[in-house]
Amino acid sequence: MPDDAWVDLVAVTALEPGDVTPVDHGGKRLAVYDAPDGIHVTAARCSHGGADLCDGYFDGKLIECPLHQGCFDIRTGQARGRPATRPIKTYECRVVNGMVQIKTS
Ligand code: FES
Repeated sequence: MPDDAWVDLVAVTALEPGDVTPVDHGGKRLAVYDAPDGIHVTAARCSHGGADLCDGYFDGKLIECPLHQGCFDIRTGQARGRPATRPIKTYECRVVNGMVQIKTS
């Protein structure tokens, strides 16, 4: 995989410590999580009704949707609580020179 598949998303210092931070990238809204085991990135739109997961409650592992309280595992994107049943997209990410990067291809 060529290195140019990685693109800068947001500075680590701009993240909410221990919480979820919204980032708009390429016309999409992404959710960047500062979790105990590192940084994770998912789509920000709930797969149930499209609510912004960045407004939800993050416990370090699961993000709870603010609208109907569906839950998702931020590492896999899998739905972990109804009414959400379909997964959300996750993005491979890394930190380079203080910037969170995601793989675009
Ligand atoms: S919009 Fe997220 S659970 Fe319904």
